[in-house]
Amino acid sequence: MSGFGAKSTTDEVLAGHDLTGMTVFITGGASGLGQETARAMAAKGAHVVLAARDQSKLDAAATEIRKQTGSDKVDTIQCDLASLASVRVCGKEANERFDKIDLLLNNAGVMACPLGRTADGFELQFGTNHLGHFVLTKYLLPLVEEGSGKRIVNLSSRAHHMDQVHFDDPNYASRDYEKWQSYGQSKTANVLFTVALDKRLKGKGIDVFAVHPGGIMTNLGRHLTEEDRAALQARVTQADQSFSWKTVEQGAATSCWAATAPELAGHGGVYCEDCQVAAVDDASSTGGVRSYAVDPDKAERLWTLSEELVGETFAV
Ligand SMILES: NC(=O)c1ccc[n+]([C@@H]2O[C@H](COP(=O)([O-])OP(=O)(O)OC[C@H]3O[C@@H](n4cnc5c(N)ncnc54)[C@H](OP(=O)(O)O)[C@@H]3O)[C@@H](O)[C@H]2O)c1
Repeated sequence: MSGFGAKSTTDEVLAGHDLTGMTVFITGGASGLGQETARAMAAKGAHVVLAARDQSKLDAAATEIRKQTGSDKVDTIQCDLASLASVRVCGKEANERFDKIDLLLNNAGVMACPLGRTADGFELQFGTNHLGHFVLTKYLLPLVEEGSGKRIVNLSSRAHHMDQVHFDDPNYASRDYEKWQSYGQSKTANVLFTVALDKRLKGKGIDVFAVHPGGIMTNLGRHLTEEDRAALQARVTQADQSFSWKTVEQGAATSCWAATAPELAGHGGVYCEDCQVAAVDDASSTGGVRSYAVDPDKAERLWTLSEELVGETFAV
């Protein structure tokens, strides 16, 4: 038990932590949970690097964080996770500009969008949420190895309950597209990636965690219609009578906890929610991680498939 829970906030989780000297790299750092994670960590002295695809959004978020925290250690870097060329450029640029990354938060994501394709032809949610981060992590790993924080946090979601990874057709080449199942597949991939990466990094003292932040009203819902929103509200409250939306500060708390809690050292490869390590549970609709998302064989299969799809190996 961490002493924290669903209502804990970023500032509460980070109270007592001094992040001075730490470099924190956050994808999706110009919005929602990523921006709040960056703000809270900058307030504790961290050098934060916000990664996103839109420079004007990055500039606005960096200005806001500097204003809120008084920090002069806020950097930005462009990265479009829906383009492997952009991801590779970002990875190379990060290695030139920064000498280490202590905490890497793979936080960016897209949810329930209409069928779309990345620049490389991958289905948009699987391509952005999983494959983009897979390649980015490969390029940033040398920097993480140089850091002392030695943690990687991958944002998943309880929506991983909605679908497994379809190894025979992850990109919806020959099956009907369904936007929630696609999101679920991508968020299961985030957990499987966590399991496989953590296994490879055990010997290097780097821990990798998957996080479900809770339900938070952010820009993530930009693709939802009013009808979609009503259906989502009905679904979550039917599944969990005690459900309530979290604030952004509460939503980003589990990422901050997974990135810094001393009691988690050496315990990577797990899925966290409400600032706790979640149990493996194949039935509950109110929490837990599905066994298919932490299955080590599926994790290895996804690693191999990801290498094939992106056309490069990720040797650790
Ligand atoms: N909010 C929730 O209830 C909830 C629940 C479960 C899990 N999550 C997860 O939490 C994470 C953060 O979501 P959020 O709620 O903070 O949503 P958000 O405010 O929409 O933030 C998502 C971020 O991802 C970025 N992004 C999207 N596509 C990208 C791309 N191709 N390249 C680079 N960046 C891209 C967005 O940038 P742009 O502004 O440029 O699009 C934005 O900065 C996501 O992984 C999400 O799946 C959220």
